[in-house]
Amino acid sequence: MPMQEIINRRSVRSYRSDAVTEEQIEQVLRAAMAAPSAGNQQPWEFIVVTDRALLAKITEVHPHSKMLHEAPAAIVVCGNTSREKHTGFWVQDCSAAVQNMLLEATHHGIGSVWLGVYPRQDRVDGMKKLFSLPEQVVPFAVVALGHAKEPPTSVDRFNPGYVHRNGW
Ligand SMILES: Cc1cc2nc3c(=O)[nH]c(=O)nc-3n(C[C@H](O)[C@H](O)[C@H](O)COP(=O)(O)O)c2cc1C
Repeated sequence: MPMQEIINRRSVRSYRSDAVTEEQIEQVLRAAMAAPSAGNQQPWEFIVVTDRALLAKITEVHPHSKMLHEAPAAIVVCGNTSREKHTGFWVQDCSAAVQNMLLEATHHGIGSVWLGVYPRQDRVDGMKKLFSLPEQVVPFAVVALGHAKEPPTSVDRFNPGYVHRNGW
């Protein structure tokens, strides 16, 4: 079996109102920045959002983010293309950072869900405007954080049919 955090991580879309602590948010950010990146370029930027009105505004530009009306916090993960040494890899770097965040949140008993922004242009444009992002900064995803109303159940998706050996 994979490690507990991997097994226990599920998307949480219903949250209690109690806050995520600053310490927990810092641990999640530390986990994000511990991720591998192409040539160690670390092209990520993070916006911590706890302002209720701003969380609600995200739901106006992201069609599948209704849980942000409840979630006590969210972190917007962005790619700063001006820090790219290896063109185009920022997307994979930010993905690795997001996955680390979800696993770290799980480790602390915090529920989370990855809300994809990039490459949907309408979401990218909406988020860029909402957060006044500089031209070279692309909003990549929003990670909602909070205490789950119901503890999620784990799921085993192992499918040997997806595994190929030494060729297709
Ligand atoms: C790139 C990406 C984008 C996603 N975007 C959304 C989203 O906009 N809204 C949402 O509720 N869940 C979103 N999810 C969560 C997926 O729906 C979820 O991971 C998937 O259904 C598997 O369920 P699990 O996370 O509970 O294992 C996204 C996940 C990924 C990886």
